Amino acid sequence: MATKKIIIAFDLYGTLLSTESIAYELAKVYGAEQEATWKSLAALWRRYQLEYTWRINSMGEYKPFSTITRNALYHAVSEHGLSLSSEDADALMRSYDALHVFPEVPLALRLLDDDKYGDNNNNKSVEAYVFSNGTDEMVENSIKTSPELGPSAGRIFKALITVHSLQCFKPDKRAYEHLVRQVGKKGQESDVWVVSANPFDVVGARAAGLKAAFIDRTGKGWIDRLDEKRAPSVITSGVDEAIKRILKY
Ligand code: LAC
Repeated sequence: MATKKIIIAFDLYGTLLSTESIAYELAKVYGAEQEATWKSLAALWRRYQLEYTWRINSMGEYKPFSTITRNALYHAVSEHGLSLSSEDADALMRSYDALHVFPEVPLALRLLDDDKYGDNNNNKSVEAYVFSNGTDEMVENSIKTSPELGPSAGRIFKALITVHSLQCFKPDKRAYEHLVRQVGKKGQESDVWVVSANPFDVVGARAAGLKAAFIDRTGKGWIDRLDEKRAPSVITSGVDEAIKRILKY
């Protein structure tokens, strides 16, 4: 019996890689004792990073995710009435090159790495990709420098797919159409899975006809109400479990 290939595209920031450590880099700049400030800055930075991608998509324009991320940092800092030198901004941007994976991700990587799906999962095997809003350089660096992802990424992921050549961000439908084309599944969108802890990404993938696994990192379940018809195909607490559920789907 032939092995069926299951295409899974993993979101990067917030799904495989945790951006939590960025808060500690902010603590170095603004003082460890100012905990409320650096925690709030970290959350605001991420919020404006995403908000800027959605706003610029709506305007029909594009700036690289690295520029968006840097500008969002300055916005968060200004909102707190603080300032930031360009050297400190450089250092904070470099923290994207020192991110750690979420605790269950090493297990997920082992699942993807050990090619035993054919025996254990009804002759299914996984073709894995990373699919991110980041620029090629940012995504490559974040992966290369991650102690957990770096050594095995080349073996596990068939390609790192970004939106940079397309010049528009998820959840624009064109981003998912780009993914589907890159993995050679044009016209067979529902054969492609997106695994993401970002609800906007899940709804975007579903709206474009793909399947999506939502990684529920906060344990609140599926509470996004933008479009109730675009619920995740599966919901799990971790990426490892998502892979197992997708293989049984
Ligand atoms: C990404 C963003 C959504 O990696 O975090 O695409």
